[in-house]
Amino acid sequence: MAKLNILEFPDPRLRRVAQPVDVVTDRERKLAADMLETMYSARGIGLAATQVNEGVRLLVLDLSETRDQPRVFINPEIISRTGSQTCEEGCLSVPGIYAEVKRAEEIRVRALGLDGEPFEQDADGLLAVCIQHEIDHLDGKVFVDYLSPLKRRMVEKKLKKQRQREPDAVA
Ligand code: NI
Repeated sequence: MAKLNILEFPDPRLRRVAQPVDVVTDRERKLAADMLETMYSARGIGLAATQVNEGVRLLVLDLSETRDQPRVFINPEIISRTGSQTCEEGCLSVPGIYAEVKRAEEIRVRALGLDGEPFEQDADGLLAVCIQHEIDHLDGKVFVDYLSPLKRRMVEKKLKKQRQREPDAVA
């Protein structure tokens, strides 16, 4: 396995729309393993392929406290959504920034697993938030896009300052 470089907002490569995976092969399995290692090492709970500059629709998650329940979604699609919830979100591509985002409360997702088999899963709460956040990445969206232009400018300024203070802090 290998740790991958995580792109940081406002890197334009975070805006690319990822392409569906035709057939799940060892290439996707290796990418998923590398992304999980990268996510665990950065202490994140989710990571989308877009964030490591891979243009395929693949995301990984682990919401467990014990950090031993990895989930992989390939070609994830939200097939139903109900309700709404507001949750404070952060992102490995937007380090040190947290903001409230409104999303669906319950969703049903269809995806392929690492074995290439389709599955469907219901999700609510934090899991639903996380899946919606990561699918956004695959569509070239970042959670700060939901903020007002004023708040987004503040975020950009704060990130710039952070980078000047810690020039080597990019993981
Ligand atoms: Ni993110």
